[in-house]
Amino acid sequence: MSVPKSEYLSNAWAEGIFANRVLFITGGAGSIGRAQTRALVHLGADACIIGRNVEKTEAAAKEIAKVRSGARVLGIGGVDVRNFESLKAAADRCVKELGSIDYVVAGAAGNFVAPIAGLSPNAFKAVIEIDTIGTFNTLKATIPHLIASASRNPNPNRQGTTGGRFLSVSATFHYTGMPLQAHVSAAKAAIDSLMGSAALEYGPYGVTANCVAPGAIAGTEGMERLASSQVKGEDRDKAVPSGRWGTVRDIADATVFVFSDAGNYINGTTIVVDGAGWRRQGGL
Ligand code: HXC
Repeated sequence: MSVPKSEYLSNAWAEGIFANRVLFITGGAGSIGRAQTRALVHLGADACIIGRNVEKTEAAAKEIAKVRSGARVLGIGGVDVRNFESLKAAADRCVKELGSIDYVVAGAAGNFVAPIAGLSPNAFKAVIEIDTIGTFNTLKATIPHLIASASRNPNPNRQGTTGGRFLSVSATFHYTGMPLQAHVSAAKAAIDSLMGSAALEYGPYGVTANCVAPGAIAGTEGMERLASSQVKGEDRDKAVPSGRWGTVRDIADATVFVFSDAGNYINGTTIVVDGAGWRRQGGL
């Protein structure tokens, strides 16, 4: 059964704005990644989804392709973002089969709920390796393709380009610190920093590098695990100043904004999409 558009995209965007463009996304079979991919594919892009699990990745690609007739969605499973060589091979295959990489989402992440005393050095390292080093590897594997995309796609209407966008999925935990998430918090702080450096290095080539920081997003695996350990039931909605938990569509819409012509001059920053949740203790 196909997923209704209202679950992954608002009505704010013109159809076809990403025609002839290709998204490369790690973690694209996860709940947020799936919505981001659906949104871009709906608006005209083709996509390449990278994941560790072969069946899950290929099934997600097939399902997302139904969003738009003629969409090409390639699922490349068996790729661990901790392994640069396999990511590079996936990026090269994406360009060979789909023609380019114009947008990248680094969404692969690892998470579990544990206090600092309950983290072995290897547990801390595992999350740093998946989140931070995985994002670095994704950036390194795709940046030549993003530079090529930016140079192929000067913006006809104003300065800047319409291709060559990198977006990391970050978090808000490191703004305040977060109990039971010291590992994830540290990993995401490093990702924010990495995007800032990438923006400085590659801005002159027309490439942008940003983060989107989701707050409490309903229905995601990580948030269900974390929030159920902190805030229960109906109290969850009340804990967010905007009065509700986020949806995967909120993150997909922010992604479309950053990748669209409207996001042309957004570079080296983080778009926080959390209903002001991080500003209130217990926002989770
Ligand atoms: C303490 C734990 C643990 C837990 C694993 N470890 N789970 N320690 N509490 N609950 C420890 C292990 O004992 C081991 O340390 C080390 O972590 C590595 O575990 P492995 O299973 O060997 O590693 P690996 O197979 O690479 O798995 C990585 C993983 C796993 C992060 C542990 O959960 C994973 O692959 N997750 C990917 C999917 C996922 O988490 N998705 C949710 C993303 S949500 P020792 O010392 O025993 O060797 C998300 C949102 C974050 O990221 C922001 C919002 C919440």
